[in-house]
Amino acid sequence: MNRREFLGCVSAASISGMPVGKVLAASDPHGLTAKRANIQLAPAGYPKTEIWGYNGMVPGPEIRVAKGARVQRMLLNEVPDPTSVHWHGIRIDNAMDGVSGLTQDAVKTGDTFEYDFVAPDAGTFWYHAHNRSYEQIARGLSGPLIVEEPDTIDIDREEVLVLDDWLVDPETSQLDNDFEAGGDKSHGGRIGNYITTNGKYNLTLSARKNERYRLRLINASNARILPLQLEGFDGWIVALDGMPLAAPQPVTETIVFAPAQRIDLIVDVTADVGESAHIQRLDRNEVASQVAFEVKSIAATRTRGTPQPLAPNEIPTVDLNSAKPFVLKMEGGAMGGLRFATLGGVKKSMGEIVEAGQFWAFNGAADGMGGPPLAELSQGEHARIMIKNETSFAHAMHLHGMHFNELNPDGSLGLLRDTTLVERGEEREIAFVADNLGKWLFHCHMLAHAASGMTTRIIVS
Ligand code: C2O
Ligand code: CU
Repeated sequence: MNRREFLGCVSAASISGMPVGKVLAASDPHGLTAKRANIQLAPAGYPKTEIWGYNGMVPGPEIRVAKGARVQRMLLNEVPDPTSVHWHGIRIDNAMDGVSGLTQDAVKTGDTFEYDFVAPDAGTFWYHAHNRSYEQIARGLSGPLIVEEPDTIDIDREEVLVLDDWLVDPETSQLDNDFEAGGDKSHGGRIGNYITTNGKYNLTLSARKNERYRLRLINASNARILPLQLEGFDGWIVALDGMPLAAPQPVTETIVFAPAQRIDLIVDVTADVGESAHIQRLDRNEVASQVAFEVKSIAATRTRGTPQPLAPNEIPTVDLNSAKPFVLKMEGGAMGGLRFATLGGVKKSMGEIVEAGQFWAFNGAADGMGGPPLAELSQGEHARIMIKNETSFAHAMHLHGMHFNELNPDGSLGLLRDTTLVERGEEREIAFVADNLGKWLFHCHMLAHAASGMTTRIIVS
C-alpha cells in the first residue's frame, strides 16, 4: 500500500466516532506546554501516533475569552525543537505575534515565553506554532482560539470543529517524517492521507431535528483545500476568518475552505429522526462525511429561517482612492516556468534557487522572510495589494496583524478576511488600513510554500 493511500484504506473500515470530550482544565489554566504525546489518532485497532501537541492534545486546548479580554498563556517548550506561538487572525500587539525570527526569538527546549495580549475582535481564531511551521503544525501544534461576542446568539448549541489533514504511514500510524520533501514544496504542499475533525476520524455527534447550531470550522491543514457541502441542514455562513458577514449567506453550493481559514456557520437540522445530517467533503469528486450528526429526536416543529447577522467588529474602513497601490507577483513552483529570481539581491538561475532549498519568488525575489519587504507604510496609511498568481498552484495568502478586504470584481470593497485563496492564474486585490504598528508577515499558508520563498513582510511604522 502506498503511504499516501491511508485514507482510502480507512474509509473501508467501519468506525464509530465518539463525541468530542470537553477540554480538561490543565493544572495551570494559563499554561500552554508544547510536548510530545502518543495519542489514538488513527482509528481504534491501529497503533497510537506520536504527535507534538499543546498540553499533549490534538487539537490543542480550546482557549475561549470574551471580546476585548486579555489572553495570558505561559508557553513551556518541551518539544525537541525551538518554537513559538502565533495567534492567527488576532489584531495583536506585534511583540506578541509569535513569529520566530521576526517578532521574537524561538523559545528553546525547556524555556518559557509569556504571551499576554488583548483579543479585540469577537470570532473564530486559532493558534499555532510559528517556527518551522511546515513541520511543527504537521506534527499537531495548533488549537482553537474562540472570542465570544457580548450578544446572545439564537442557537441551541455550538461546536468548534478543527479539520486537519495528516500524512500518516498506514503500517505504523506514525507521521511521515519527510517534512522537507522537495516535491511538497514545489507542488501543492504537504497533502495528507488522513483527515480528522477534532483529532477523530469520522467524528459523529448527536443532533435533534429543527435544532439550530453554530459551527465554528477551522482548517488546520498544512496545505489541503477542503471543498465542503452541507447535507441534512439548512445553513448560512455568518462569519469568515472571524469577521461577521453583513448578511448571512445561505449555503447553496460547495464552500471552498483553504488552509488557515475559518468559517462560522449557523445551521438548522432538517434531517429526520433516524437519519444523519453531514458536513461533507468532496474528495476527487466523491463525497465523504467529514462530520456526521445523528438525529435522535425532534426538538421543534419547524426551523427558524434566516438568522440575524452577527454584530460587526470595529475594523477601520479602507478608502480605496487614497490607498497606496502595491503588486505582489507570485512565481515559481513546479510547472511555473520561472527561470531566474534573486537571492540576497543576486540574480540566480532556477537551478541555483532550488539548490538553496527555495522554489517560489515574490516580485522576483526567492529569499522568503529575509527578503525585501513588500511594503513600508506609515501607521494609518491605507494600502491595496494586487496579488497576481502566475504559478500553477493555488495559494492561501495570510496577512498578520490586520484584516483586509478582498476587492469585488467591480472594484468595490468585499469580504473582510485574514487569509485569501488565490487560485492558479488568478488576480486578487486586497486592501487594508495599516493601523497596527510593527513587522507583519504576509505569506502563503500552504506551509511548505511559505518555507520555500512565499513569505514577505509588511512594515508599519
Ligand atoms: Cu497562521 Cu504566519 O500564520
Ligand atoms: Cu502557496
